[in-house]
Amino acid sequence: MGKKAFIPTRDLIIFPGIITPLFIGRETSISTLEKAMLDDNRMILCMQKDFNEEEPKLPEDVHKIGVIVNILQTVKMPNGTIKVLVEGKNRILLHDASEEEGAYYAEYEDVKIEGLTESLDVALRRKVMNIFEKYAKLSTKILPDLIANLRGIEDLGKVFDIMSSNLPIPNETKQEILEVFDLEKRAYKLIEILTKEIDIVNIEKTIDSKVKDKLNAAQKSYYLREKINALREELGDSASSDDDLEELKNSIESQKLPKEVKAKLEKELKRLYKMGPFSAEATVVRSYIETVLEIPWIKMTKDILDIEKASETLDADHYGLKDVKERILEFLAVKKLNPEMKGSILCLVGPPGVGKTSLARSIADSMGRKFVRISLGGVRDEAEIRGHRRTYIGSMPGRIIKGIKQAKSKNPVVLLDELDKMASDFKGDPASAMLEVLDPEQNMHFEDHYLDMPFDLSKVFFIATANDLGGVPGPLRDRMELIKINSYTEFEKLHIAKRYLLEEAQVENGLRKCEVKISDEALMKMINEYTREPGVRNLKREISKLYRRIAREFVKNKKPSIRINVKNLEKYMGKPKYRPDKQREKSPKLGIVTGLAWTAVGGTALEVQAVSMEGKGKLALTGKLGEVMKESAQVAYSYVRSKRERYEIEDKFNEKYDIHLHFPEGAVPKDGPSAGITITTALISVLAGKNVRQDIAMTGEVTITGEVLPVGGIKEKVIGAHRVGIREVILPADNESDVDELPSEISKDMKFYFVKDYEEVEKLVFEK
Ligand SMILES: Nc1ncnc2c1ncn2[C@@H]1O[C@H](COP(=O)(O)OP(=O)(O)OP(=O)(O)O)[C@@H](O)[C@H]1O
Ligand SMILES: [Mg+2]
Repeated sequence: MGKKAFIPTRDLIIFPGIITPLFIGRETSISTLEKAMLDDNRMILCMQKDFNEEEPKLPEDVHKIGVIVNILQTVKMPNGTIKVLVEGKNRILLHDASEEEGAYYAEYEDVKIEGLTESLDVALRRKVMNIFEKYAKLSTKILPDLIANLRGIEDLGKVFDIMSSNLPIPNETKQEILEVFDLEKRAYKLIEILTKEIDIVNIEKTIDSKVKDKLNAAQKSYYLREKINALREELGDSASSDDDLEELKNSIESQKLPKEVKAKLEKELKRLYKMGPFSAEATVVRSYIETVLEIPWIKMTKDILDIEKASETLDADHYGLKDVKERILEFLAVKKLNPEMKGSILCLVGPPGVGKTSLARSIADSMGRKFVRISLGGVRDEAEIRGHRRTYIGSMPGRIIKGIKQAKSKNPVVLLDELDKMASDFKGDPASAMLEVLDPEQNMHFEDHYLDMPFDLSKVFFIATANDLGGVPGPLRDRMELIKINSYTEFEKLHIAKRYLLEEAQVENGLRKCEVKISDEALMKMINEYTREPGVRNLKREISKLYRRIAREFVKNKKPSIRINVKNLEKYMGKPKYRPDKQREKSPKLGIVTGLAWTAVGGTALEVQAVSMEGKGKLALTGKLGEVMKESAQVAYSYVRSKRERYEIEDKFNEKYDIHLHFPEGAVPKDGPSAGITITTALISVLAGKNVRQDIAMTGEVTITGEVLPVGGIKEKVIGAHRVGIREVILPADNESDVDELPSEISKDMKFYFVKDYEEVEKLVFEK
């Protein structure tokens, strides 16, 4: 029995023969350590039963079996704890422990371990070592050196202790081993523990491998897929890319191409061979070669140069349009005489729906050429005409070359539709690109940025269309041969409807088996009261609507023939959308004059109204007028003032009266000088108190001296006047030749007066 300094350890168990560091933090433990060091450098260590216990009660809270240790070294740690290196000596049995003067002391007894008989020693050593080695092999937690060390130790107890100390088992289990004094029993205990541990490790291993298998399955398929892709790329695709290249090469060789084009393509192909087949650049080059190959560098269609036949085709598709048709036939005739002739450029100008677009198609048909339509509406950018440089994937040739490619021939009819819509808001300079396209001197070498080689556009027959050439730059306009298409008269519309639109609508609506008869009067009503337009687009739509309604009825009651007349038209079409033009009153009126205007929907009669009232000579104007119109009112006013006596107007009227001029149909913007004589007439009427004839209409610019100048749109205006029942029209003398353009159906009804000076007007318009 002895008494020694004693430290309860929290979660550390030291076996005899083991050197290990021990950290001491508790104040009492630290003073105990100091006491021990003052004594013989030895102390007793016993493990707490519960390692959570901060202040274990002695002795009941510590295990009875502990170890006596040698203090080898102490180091003070920065955090105030002390690291003590200790060496386990031998087991002790604790009898009592208590605190004395701030340190722990234990009363203890050394434990004596009995040795075994030699053969038992060997057998147990062998047995335990075998199992331990087996365990060490399975577990990663045992260092290989340890086995060699253990082999070298003679004392079996020490072997077991070192072994136990190194096992990754809970301290409680280690304590159990520590408490077995009998070596044989301790051997069995170890065998039992090791066997169990081996089992555990084995189970752990299967768990691991199961988890790993799962992971592996996913990883493996990923890996395989990647591999397949890589292989595909390497074998499959590169093989097919080689095929591709061969194919390209063959096409370049076999296709008829101009020398420069062939050379260029061969150069590009060489570049392509050197590139990675999957690089972005290769894609660009490849699609370039393909595009160039698709362009009809040489291919041309043969023109039908049969004038008769062409004329028939044109007539079959379109009514009237004499000028255009004749121009086409001339072109064909010249072409027949001089096959080398340059392409030409027509520009069809006219209001919407008069057949510009559809005529172009029919021209292509009549010549036996391919037809492509290039819409220029909304084009702002030069690159849209000329293409983008070949610098990125997706760069393309411009619309012209794309159109040619689509036509598959070098001499198609190319419709440049809505040229004015392009030029009106151009940015960059699409117009100058168009200049090159349309200039017969330049377009033999049209440069598209994408192609990067000149293409010969001189064989192309360009037809441009526009509603209004106002916005088209002069130089561009000069390149083209302009052909005006006017708005149609109601008679022309009637013909077009009867000859083309009705039949088309009948076929379209599957009414071949039903006989539909529409009276001329009904058609006229459709033309005048269901549509209001210069062309026939809406008329066509309305007719188609009528036939749809007829089709519905036909399906319902199978009537073999259906007649439409003015009376039953509304049943099919609903109420008219427009009231018929106000028919002119016959009796003369004060201050109301019929002028003629040209609006977006064609010519029409437009009233001017004037009133005078007491005032100071102010001239008020209303009715959505443009600047030019306002000015021409001022001009008229000055003219009237200067001719006051001539027109029998009260003296100083300009100090006594205000005049208000109003132009009804206020929603329609009006501008231009052509209302000059109309305004003058209205002014004289109210100022001189003369009534104006309502059955005569007029148009003409008036100067400050009363000269009447020519104006535009005569044909449309006269047609408009005719429509509202006017039969007498005053026109500027210089417009006399315009009357020749009028359809005879109209001109035969009309009486024209051509005037040079306003005084002549005055003689015509006022009530006698
Ligand atoms: N003289 C005509 N004979 C027969 N059909 C015609 C005639 N004029 C126009 N059409 C028909 O009217 C429809 C409209 O014509 P189109 O589209 O060619 O008009 P557009 O002049 O090009 O008008 P926009 O200026 O609005 O483009 C077409 O279906 C066309 O067949
Ligand atoms: Mg059109």
